[in-house]
Amino acid sequence: MSQLREVAGIVLAAGKGTRMKSELPKALHEVCGAPMVRLVADALISAGVGKPIIVTGHGSEAVREALGADRFEYAFQQFQRGTGDAVRCAIDSVKPKSVVIVAAGDTPLVHAELVRALLEKHTSSGNQATVATMHLEDPTGYGRVLRDPCGNVTQIVEHRDATQEQREILEANGGLYCFDSDMLGKTLEQLRPNNDQGELYLTDTIAWIASQGGKVGAYRVEDPIDLAGVNNRWQLAEANSVLRRRLVEQHALAGVSILDPASTYVDVGVEIGRDTVLHPGSFLEGSTRVGERCSIGPNTQLIDSRVGSESRVMMSVLHGVEVGRHVIIGPFAHLRGGASIGDDARIGNFVEVKNSALENGVRAAHLSYIGDASVGRDANIGAGTITCNYDGICKHRTVIGAEAFIGSNSTLVAPVQIGHKAIVAAGSVVTFNVPDDALAVGRSRQEIKESWATQWREKKRSKG
Ligand code: UD1
Ligand code: MG
Repeated sequence: MSQLREVAGIVLAAGKGTRMKSELPKALHEVCGAPMVRLVADALISAGVGKPIIVTGHGSEAVREALGADRFEYAFQQFQRGTGDAVRCAIDSVKPKSVVIVAAGDTPLVHAELVRALLEKHTSSGNQATVATMHLEDPTGYGRVLRDPCGNVTQIVEHRDATQEQREILEANGGLYCFDSDMLGKTLEQLRPNNDQGELYLTDTIAWIASQGGKVGAYRVEDPIDLAGVNNRWQLAEANSVLRRRLVEQHALAGVSILDPASTYVDVGVEIGRDTVLHPGSFLEGSTRVGERCSIGPNTQLIDSRVGSESRVMMSVLHGVEVGRHVIIGPFAHLRGGASIGDDARIGNFVEVKNSALENGVRAAHLSYIGDASVGRDANIGAGTITCNYDGICKHRTVIGAEAFIGSNSTLVAPVQIGHKAIVAAGSVVTFNVPDDALAVGRSRQEIKESWATQWREKKRSKG
């Protein structure tokens, strides 16, 4: 019956994170591209919590904006008086007679399986409170779990409040708990700031419930890394490398070849198709999606970009870009700001594309800037072509027709249109529209002076 109780979740994220030494609220520091607090709240959702309540305080607006209101609820803790006070701010939103999972918002490696196991232990043991604990070789900074001679949990003592003897205890509080909501509500009223920090500690609920004859249990996690707390930047860096390895491993097991896991960076939520190969130095960030049988890298950064199947991106940076199938990009290309590249296109070395739509089969193989342009199917953009999209005040568009041929080193001064199948002679400065099928030559005509070179040399020598 107990399993039928509603499961609520509270994530504590109001703290300033003083030890992070940062302007950013601690909750928003990212691990593999996701704010820490979102990773914790997502683990709760995956474990069956409907809408976790996130307690915000420091940087509240920023946290709410970053996480949105679709999947989470919020409670506000005006003054950061401790973890117990933070839970107090949220407890009224929890329905009576439910099970409530409380999680610290700074344990980004926590995952649904662990939360589910804790919940299972809590309900199957008929506990009023169950705390997730871990065995650490060096638990400095964590609360210590005190047990009576029979092994029952009696109390949690913070590191700074612990005696030397208590500090020898290697079982630490992981910052993840299950409570019966009614018992928790009652207990929170009993908290007193009798500790070194003068705060209301959530951890004190454990001793109080135990002293009232309540049933308190512990769930000892197998791998303590799952509950590693992030209080400073070094712990943040370590959490990043652990989660990164997990994500890279997941992709590998799902059919992606990873040549060098240590130099491959894949954010949470990135999608990669089967038989794609990630070369060393690949960074796949944000909402990036890569199709099947692609080759990415070496040394390539894809941010919020989509790459179609069978495409190859080498030593390039793509930010907010959509790339079709069977496209070759790089080495050394920079695509950004809403560029879209059609199927079978080729974007070569030292080509920059910004806010432009290149249709299928376009080739811009070397040394070009294509900005604010539309380029029709199978057009060829010669080496050194520049769209002059900016007049110092406004941006203007360049429209290039299908199968047009832009000769090398051409300067297209926007706004300008190049017609279907038109040809622009190499070295042209194009300042007005070119009709379909026409040739535009916008350069001074070449002169030939027969025997001029010999005459010039002789003149020089006779003077010399
Ligand atoms: C806390 C636990 C400690 C445990 C460790 C696990 C307490 C008193 N201590 O210590 O036993 O071993 O987590 O990682 O609970 N927060 C608020 N409002 C506040 C204070 C904190 O929302 O007034 C939030 C923080 O933003 C943070 C979480 O609660 O996400 C934990 O607070 P933190 O200061 O990191 O506690 P620890 O010292 O890590
Ligand atoms: Mg902490």
